Amino acid sequence: MLDTSLRVPDIPTRLRAFLDQRTPVTPCLVIDLDAVRANYRAIRSALPEAAVFYAVKANPAPEVVRALVAEGSSFDVASTGEIDLCLEQGATPESLSYGNPIKKAADIAYAYRLGVRRFTFDSDGDLENLAEHAPGARVSCRFLVDAPQSGTPFGKKFGCAPDMAIRLLARAADLGLAADGACFHVGSQHTDPAAWVSGIAEAGRIARALAECGVPTRSLNLGGGFPTGYADPAPPLDVHAAAIRAAVATHFETAPELLIEPGRAVVATAGLIRTEVVLVSRKSDSDEHRWVYLDIGRYSGLAETENEYIAYRLRTAHPDAPDGPVIIAGPTCDGDDVLYQHTPYRLPTALRAGDHVDILDAGAYTASYSSVSFNGFPPLPTLFVG
Ligand SMILES: Cc1ncc(COP(=O)(O)O)c(C=O)c1O
Repeated sequence: MLDTSLRVPDIPTRLRAFLDQRTPVTPCLVIDLDAVRANYRAIRSALPEAAVFYAVKANPAPEVVRALVAEGSSFDVASTGEIDLCLEQGATPESLSYGNPIKKAADIAYAYRLGVRRFTFDSDGDLENLAEHAPGARVSCRFLVDAPQSGTPFGKKFGCAPDMAIRLLARAADLGLAADGACFHVGSQHTDPAAWVSGIAEAGRIARALAECGVPTRSLNLGGGFPTGYADPAPPLDVHAAAIRAAVATHFETAPELLIEPGRAVVATAGLIRTEVVLVSRKSDSDEHRWVYLDIGRYSGLAETENEYIAYRLRTAHPDAPDGPVIIAGPTCDGDDVLYQHTPYRLPTALRAGDHVDILDAGAYTASYSSVSFNGFPPLPTLFVG
C-alpha cells in the first residue's frame, strides 16, 4: 500500500528535536550519524558472514565515511575522488574495493599506487588495463543478473553475460591477476529477495565452470540493492539475508567469502530533507489538483524522483487537516523539474507558501546528486546530528 498520506507524525525524535531547536535555512538534508551507525550494525547482524563494503556513492559526506570507518566498515568506491575521500577519513587502502567497471587506465594506476588491491571489471578492455596497471590485484567480474527490475534499475550498463564472465575470469588468471570471483548487483532498491537468489545460482555455476578449468575462485560479491521502505513498504533485511544464506548453501559446495556493498540501506533512513513551499497554485479555476512548488527539486537533490522511481514519504505540520490531490514540482525554470505527477500524493488544503514539507528517509542519493548551481540554486547543504 502506497503511503503518501500525512497521518503519522513519525519524524525520528532526534531529527525533530534538531529541526525544532535549529530551524535551519531550507532546503537542507539533516543526517543522524547515530542512525547511520545503527543501520550499519543492523546489516552486520543480519548477515554476519558477509564483509560490508559501504557504497560511498549513496552518501559521500566525510562525516558519514568517518563514522563508518570507526565502525570497521570497508568501502565500495567508484572513482579516484572517492578513494581520496575514504583515505582522508581514515580508511585503509586494503579496505577499499574499486567497484566501478568503467574506469580510465590512469585511475587504475592511481588507485594501485595508493594501495588499492580489489577491483571489479566486466570487459576485456578494463581487464587488460588492470593487468597492466594493477599487477597481481584481486579482481571480480560483474555479470548481468536475470532478475525482475528493481526500484531504480541500472538497465544493461554494467556486467557481462555469465558465460563471458567465465572466460574473462579465466583470462584474468592467465594475465597474472588473482581471479577472485563473480559479482553482481540486482539494481538499487530491490524489494524481491528472489533477485539475489538468481544471481547466486548463476554465480555458483560460474564458480564451478572455472574450478573445472583449473581456476579456483574464492569470493562472491552480492553488491547492494537492499531496499528502504519509502511510500511503498519494503521487506526487512532479515528476509533478504535468509534468502541469500539459503541460496549460497544450495549453489556453492564450499562457502565463498561473501561481500556486500549496501549504500541506500546504510544511510537512507538516517536522513530527512526539510523543504519550504514556494507556491501553491492551480492550472485552472476548476482544477481539482493543486500544484505545490517546493524549494527543492530534481536538480537540487531529488534526482531519484526521475520516472517517479522513489516516492518519498512527506510530512507537514498539519497531519490531521483535510487534504487534497497535488502535483509536486521543484523551483527551477525547467519543465522536467516535476517530482510527482503520476504518484497520487495528497497534501493539506491549508498548505501555504512558507510552510515546511519534510521528506523522510532521504539520506541516500540526494545531497551528492544536487547540481552546483543550476538556475542559480546552490547545492543542498547537509547538517549532522550525533
Ligand atoms: C557497484 C555498486 N555497488 C553498490 C551500490 C549500492 O547500491 P545500493 O545503494 O542500492 O545498496 C551501487 C549503486 O549504484 C553500485 O553501483
